[in-house]
Amino acid sequence: MVTKSNAIKQVNKYLEDQARLDTLRFITCGSVDDGKSTLIGRMFFEAQMIFEDQVKLLQTDSKKIGTQGDDIDFALLVDGLSSEREQGITIDVAYRFLTTKRRKFIIADTPGHEQYTRNMVTGASTADIAVILIDARKGVLPQTRRHSMICSLIGIPKVVIAINKMDLIEYEQKKFNDIFESYNTFANELKFDQITAIPISALKGDNIIHKSSQMFWYKGPTLLDFLETVDTRNSSVNYPLSFPIQWVNRPNLNFRGYSGTIVSGTAKLGQLIKILPSGETAAIREIILFKDKLQIAKTGQAVTLRLNKEIDASRGDIIVARDTNCEVSDQFEVNLVWMHQEPGYLGRTFWLKIGAIQVNAHITTLKYKLNINTLEHLTVRQLELNDLAVVNIKTDQKIVFERYRDCKPLGSFILIDRMTHQTVAAGMIKFSLRRATNIYRQKLNISKENRRKLNGHDSFVLWFTGLSGSGKSTLANALEKKLYDRGVHTYLLDGDNVRLGLNNDLGFTNADRIENIRRIGEVAKLFVDSGIVVLTAFISPFRAERKMVRDLFEEGEFFEIFVDTPLHIAEKRDPKGLYKKARRGEIPNFTGIGSPYETPLKPNIHIKTKNYSVSEIVEQLLLKLKL
Ligand code: ADX
Repeated sequence: MVTKSNAIKQVNKYLEDQARLDTLRFITCGSVDDGKSTLIGRMFFEAQMIFEDQVKLLQTDSKKIGTQGDDIDFALLVDGLSSEREQGITIDVAYRFLTTKRRKFIIADTPGHEQYTRNMVTGASTADIAVILIDARKGVLPQTRRHSMICSLIGIPKVVIAINKMDLIEYEQKKFNDIFESYNTFANELKFDQITAIPISALKGDNIIHKSSQMFWYKGPTLLDFLETVDTRNSSVNYPLSFPIQWVNRPNLNFRGYSGTIVSGTAKLGQLIKILPSGETAAIREIILFKDKLQIAKTGQAVTLRLNKEIDASRGDIIVARDTNCEVSDQFEVNLVWMHQEPGYLGRTFWLKIGAIQVNAHITTLKYKLNINTLEHLTVRQLELNDLAVVNIKTDQKIVFERYRDCKPLGSFILIDRMTHQTVAAGMIKFSLRRATNIYRQKLNISKENRRKLNGHDSFVLWFTGLSGSGKSTLANALEKKLYDRGVHTYLLDGDNVRLGLNNDLGFTNADRIENIRRIGEVAKLFVDSGIVVLTAFISPFRAERKMVRDLFEEGEFFEIFVDTPLHIAEKRDPKGLYKKARRGEIPNFTGIGSPYETPLKPNIHIKTKNYSVSEIVEQLLLKLKL
């Protein structure tokens, strides 16, 4: 399977090799039956990219699977992966490279099925143009609308409607015109800059490279003519300069350079720039590429920039053209494409990667998701694979960004799962939320250290986690009593109690449990800040949220205590009779039965309860915690 990072490496290598030639990146959209692979195969064939012997092989292969006459099944050429051949469908994104006299092409070929939306988004994200295939016999289908919608969302300005299989409708002009008209009616609200329709037959080769002798009524360019000449001035090369600093290069006191890769625009000697977030301004004094000094550096080049004055910039800051509209914020409304099997929940913390910067972020509001066939807005509780949604996002630090529609490289980001390190979503910033700019942390006179001094002891959290009935509350209760007797200021936050008050609006869906733990984490932090030892007893079933809470605290302030009682023992105890109810199907997502418990991988303390009494465990805890 082609992985995204491999594909990107491939593309980058190709770009380096061919640095000086004009390159057009396009995506082909269409379904299995629309003839997409045939079209790409035909383009390669006619551009003389196939060697003679490969052609022969294809002819024999095609005969075997029953293609008529001497027609070559070009799909075979493109569907390189054997599983694709077997299933007759294309999976994942394949990048293909084609060179003609006038241009170089990078073609992102993505599968058409609805469940592959994420692949299409990946392919579309770097495309200048989309070629949308329509089967002339079928006209505009829901999938045509879906592909067009995604292209518009991703910000592809121009589309070509390749109306294919014209040979099967006797090359009829009226049918072509009707399809184009119905497409235009629908695409009106998608706001493309340009829509071009070309009647083709990928199988017969009509209007792919050579003008068709069957359609004299068509006066426009062939598909290749169009692709070779279309103006791509909207692509990232023409955005203003942005250059995230990857590291500050300081070999000696006389030299300070900023190294990184230009993500958009060009850097020119003498050019005026500003550094964000500080906003300080300067001019470019030197552009260094290995040992060479350049006059100008382009998008994609990794260079070191020196400025005409000393500026205090560091990794993660960003150098931009002085007159760009870059902003700084920590709350955004964004379009989000959910790309992972594991659902996306409100409140869960992810890494957000934008440019060279990575910060923590979580979804604060799920506004709606789109029905990608009708563009209708649907309410949403959690994000599923391939969902396209509008959500609000909060980052834990301010980041430099631009609106996606103004600058793709600085307006797009990915979300990464902090436990598995997998990419789970791709996002496009619509705008920053105003409220982000109007709230400032207030400085307080009395600090955590002052309060600890007054209490005469440190403050921290003892976070008990485990199944319902594992003994969390019992142990926390007994330990608190001991601490109280020793004059320690404590507070016990218990799952059932907190759910009767602060969290009485929450149930037991995954999303609600995440919010439950997020709030408890924040409350525990306030207690620790006030100098108090906090004990918490919550199932807290997910690793991600336990990590999120841990990250709220400083080193030595958070202790995860895994109360390890096997399910069958907790179930036998069943102090509240809930397991019995759950087994009868009366509590659908009861932890351990209808809902998972993710055991801690590296708890600070691991207690196997079944061999010890409560007082024995409490003594062990006091010892281990050095209390
Ligand atoms: S958590 O999953 O969100 O951390 P929490 O610790 O607050 O759960 O609450 C768990 C308690 O709620 C259990 O001890 C049990 O008494 C009760 N409860 C009610 N329904 C459920 C359920 N579906 N799953 C787990 N506990 C439940």
